[in-house]
Amino acid sequence: MHRRRHQRGNRARICDRFRLKQARISFYSSFSSGGVSAEARNPTGPGYNVPIAERVRRDSGITIRVVGLIVTPKQAEAIIAEGKADMVAMARAMLDDPHWGWHAARALGAEVKRPNQYLRSGPAVWPGAAMRD
Ligand SMILES: Cc1cc2nc3c(=O)[nH]c(=O)nc-3n(C[C@H](O)[C@H](O)[C@H](O)COP(=O)(O)O)c2cc1C
Repeated sequence: MHRRRHQRGNRARICDRFRLKQARISFYSSFSSGGVSAEARNPTGPGYNVPIAERVRRDSGITIRVVGLIVTPKQAEAIIAEGKADMVAMARAMLDDPHWGWHAARALGAEVKRPNQYLRSGPAVWPGAAMRD
């Protein structure tokens, strides 16, 4: 009885997702522990929300974005590559380095297009880019 109700629930969820897909609506849930003020004391372990996000992603099939002490390009890449989340977000790492995306691309062997005003500091034309730690 309980099992049948559970199966019906799953079927309803699959239908809902199918309808959302048909309607071309993208739907995702974002995983944050809500550290909304400077006084908030979030956990200090790297990627502390990742295990929770991974489980919700696996059990629900919903597209998941995860945030919480994701800092390095390799760490962010691994979360996606290992299928633990569909997207990563970062708050403090981006405040610390507003060009995090550019630097991450370079660290992972790629380059993203920069606005014209920033072209002269790109790795292709600026030797200083290779001197960064
Ligand atoms: C300036 C700032 C503003 C934030 N605003 C919100 C917010 O409005 N709602 C929310 O749920 N979390 C907010 N957060 C918390 C982040 O979403 C995130 O959970 C937290 O900062 C941990 O991620 P991080 O290690 O990448 O900073 C904010 C964080 C910062 C630093």
